[in-house]
Amino acid sequence: MSDSFEVAHSSGPAALAKAVEQNHVVVLVDVLRASSTIITALANGASKIIPVPTVEEARELIYHYPTGFLAGERDAHPPAGFDFGNSPRSFITERIKGRPIILTTSNFTRTLGRPPSSATILVGAFLNIDHVATTARHLAAKIGQPISVISAGSLHGISMEDDFTSYQLIIRIKDPEGPPGYADIGDLARELLVSRHGSLLVQAGYEGDIYFCAQPNRYDLTPIFHKDGLVPFSPNVESIA
Ligand code: MLT
Repeated sequence: MSDSFEVAHSSGPAALAKAVEQNHVVVLVDVLRASSTIITALANGASKIIPVPTVEEARELIYHYPTGFLAGERDAHPPAGFDFGNSPRSFITERIKGRPIILTTSNFTRTLGRPPSSATILVGAFLNIDHVATTARHLAAKIGQPISVISAGSLHGISMEDDFTSYQLIIRIKDPEGPPGYADIGDLARELLVSRHGSLLVQAGYEGDIYFCAQPNRYDLTPIFHKDGLVPFSPNVESIA
């Protein structure tokens, strides 16, 4: 059954900062690939994802996390000396269970910036589309605020694949019991493959990531920003946020 959840959509760092300032429940979408990587790494047991805007900051911060890993990308590839790139498929349980991950990416961590600890920021992608829709509805009802779905966007402005994912997510938020706006994984993969960033990832050798990121509802988990990092949402986290 649908109801009257107020949901807005916009894109980029200024839109995110404004939504946070207005106390909205924010869902940040970077389907290729940062949101998908964060969801996968937490689902596979990473203790926390600590997003930082620059490669230099990541390299400095790692000294405070002796068991931590450095992860991220510039131009789709891992920066020199990093333990991981930004391929969600590489974050397997055997390597990351119980370990914090410091993450820096071209768009997601730039758009996120350094939000205040009072911000309510969730991370969404196809991998958790129904879970994040339900979590956003729950939090919006609880705090009596609208939901803002924010596409991380790109250095060039808009990002077609994030806007497509945000649109699909808004359908699930507005009417979680209704039919999804997509038919199947093939439908989603096609949209991601034809996007600008999708083509770049194919050229860079990461085509497999696109099919991975196109899987709807692989994980029942929603990352939420808590203190300085992203952890799986649970009522317990919510009460100490
Ligand atoms: C980003 O945050 O810009 C990305 O997720 C880019 C990528 O993984 O290629």
